[in-house]
Amino acid sequence: MSGIIVYRSSYGSTKQYADWIHEETGFPMFDSRDKAIPWDADTVVIGCPVLANKPFLVSWMQKNWDKMSGKRIVLFTTSGADPASEPVKDWIDKALPESMKGKVKVFPLAGRFNFAELNGMHKLMMRIGAVVLRSEEIKNQIKHPVDGVARKSLAELLAFVKS
Ligand SMILES: Cc1cc2nc3c(=O)[nH]c(=O)nc-3n(C[C@H](O)[C@H](O)[C@H](O)COP(=O)(O)O)c2cc1C
Repeated sequence: MSGIIVYRSSYGSTKQYADWIHEETGFPMFDSRDKAIPWDADTVVIGCPVLANKPFLVSWMQKNWDKMSGKRIVLFTTSGADPASEPVKDWIDKALPESMKGKVKVFPLAGRFNFAELNGMHKLMMRIGAVVLRSEEIKNQIKHPVDGVARKSLAELLAFVKS
């Protein structure tokens, strides 16, 4: 069984999971901006953070959807919010276009978030988000760093990919 891992990560938590999946499966890893992704694989594992309530690579998936036809598609997300919580599942569900529903196996995973370590643009996005969306959750995230990245959280995904 052949596979590839395509990921995007700004602060390393998504890449950390991609590295672990690579170690477990041997699938080669590619940044989503790589122009030379080899698509001749049976399984495509895609990993990205949830940013502003949306998995960051959904647009990229739409652009490359024709290349994934007939393959097994796995999407794992990282988020500051608890991945088992309803909002996260709901955000992912709403963000995926109808054409992808039922064709992508989704695994929401816990990410890492520390407002103090964000770049200027991301800090600004969060501050604007808190005001515009009047979001208590974003205000809370700004105040409290979280780190839920754990190798054991990949158990289900790995069992699925290896099945
Ligand atoms: C600009 C920005 C927006 C974010 N928006 C959300 C969000 O809407 N919901 C959420 O749960 N986490 C949000 N996060 C947290 C990220 O999903 C989390 O930090 C993730 O683990 C980052 O992945 P990375 O380390 O691979 O870059 C946001 C982070 C940034 C920087």
